Amino acid sequence: MIAKPKGTYDLYGEDAKKVAYINDVLAAICEKYNYEFIRTPVFEATEVFHRSVGDASDIVRKETYDFEDRGGRELTLRPEGTAGVVRSYIENKMYGRDLQPVKLYYNEMMYRYERPQQGRMREFNQFGVEVLGCDDPFIDAEVISLAYNIFKLLGINNIRVNINSLGDRESRDNYREALVKHFSKDIDKMCEDCQERLKKNPLRILDCKVDKDLEIMKNAPKTLDYLNEESAQRFQKLQEYLDLMDITYEVNPNIVRGLDYYNHTVFEIEMLNEEFGAQNVLSAGGRYNGLVENLQGPETPGIGFAMGFERVLLALEAEGVNVPINNSIDVFVGYVNDEEKETALYLVQDLRLNGFICETEYLGRSLKSQFKTADKLQSKYVIILNSDDIKNFEVKVRDNKTKEEENVKINDLVDYLDMNM
Ligand code: HAM
Repeated sequence: MIAKPKGTYDLYGEDAKKVAYINDVLAAICEKYNYEFIRTPVFEATEVFHRSVGDASDIVRKETYDFEDRGGRELTLRPEGTAGVVRSYIENKMYGRDLQPVKLYYNEMMYRYERPQQGRMREFNQFGVEVLGCDDPFIDAEVISLAYNIFKLLGINNIRVNINSLGDRESRDNYREALVKHFSKDIDKMCEDCQERLKKNPLRILDCKVDKDLEIMKNAPKTLDYLNEESAQRFQKLQEYLDLMDITYEVNPNIVRGLDYYNHTVFEIEMLNEEFGAQNVLSAGGRYNGLVENLQGPETPGIGFAMGFERVLLALEAEGVNVPINNSIDVFVGYVNDEEKETALYLVQDLRLNGFICETEYLGRSLKSQFKTADKLQSKYVIILNSDDIKNFEVKVRDNKTKEEENVKINDLVDYLDMNM
């Protein structure tokens, strides 16, 4: 047997229905917030991710699926959605649109060569939004509210919104300097990765899982102490906006995020359920002013977040949410001989086009076993075809709950079902 690649999974059965439900909730909320759907290629020029996610990030250093195509092009399976969306924004000149800012959402598979565990896969499904062309913390608050309200709508309540600010470039540079000074003292006592990070991306040291309990980590400088006046005011404004929307949050200075492109607002929504496991960040994002310029576009501010479906499925489970999945059908059309079969073929098409969820027999089984199938499908009605009725342009309709039967003219069938359903 050929098995699926490590870190991937097949989506089917009950989980597939749950994902379809989550997709419906996401599409509906994006419509209300007036975000527009975008799909970008599953692979991009490798450079797109090096320039955006950052050469020094763990993702680019250790986790991307890079390959050369037959034409010798350097390509990478997307590890995240922001870089591709920004590439598309620039290439399609969305900055020139009449309607600004440009508010986009996507829902796609992503690829990271990570060590798989519960909630961490090598191929995973991210929903995300990106807003380009607005620098006002008003939009930061809207993006956080969208991320938060998705969980409210899904019935996942045991969550916490953590926010932090990395400040503008000046604040970030000052903070970076303070971190280098702080960690340089004892860097030889830290792990190899942290020694590397000190040179390339000291902020990432704060994310280290190996050294997290060291004293030097606990008393490391905090981003918020290094915000300049403008950055601090902006962060204050964001909190006022979140308060106005009744979104409870915690300021958590430890959130620095693993991707290089962030500045100002960063946030994560974490699952609080204690049994949830290590991968408890359900969605995360932040502001990335400067990224569009980095990818050779015009100066444009941006902010967004992404949410992992695999973790949301686990969260629904952990919270015991009863996902409203429709496991029943409207009509089962049963028949026995070939003449009836032709009528069945026509009828199911007609009923389906009229909006009914409709099933029929495909394997030539007896009427008795067709009735069993109709019961298993929880069909509300069973139509039982027979040649005599068909000659009279009629069918027998059985209410599958009361088992009462009635003959109905084929021409009146849609109205009859509509009235009784
Ligand atoms: P990220 O924090 O790398 O951010 O990923 C966002 C979310 O994707 C995580 O919180 C998690 O739910 C899910 N996720 C990440 N890696 C995996 C994995 N290996 N398996 C399962 N789920 C995973 C980004 O990707 C940014 N692009 C978010 C963003 C958008 N920032 C601004 N705009």
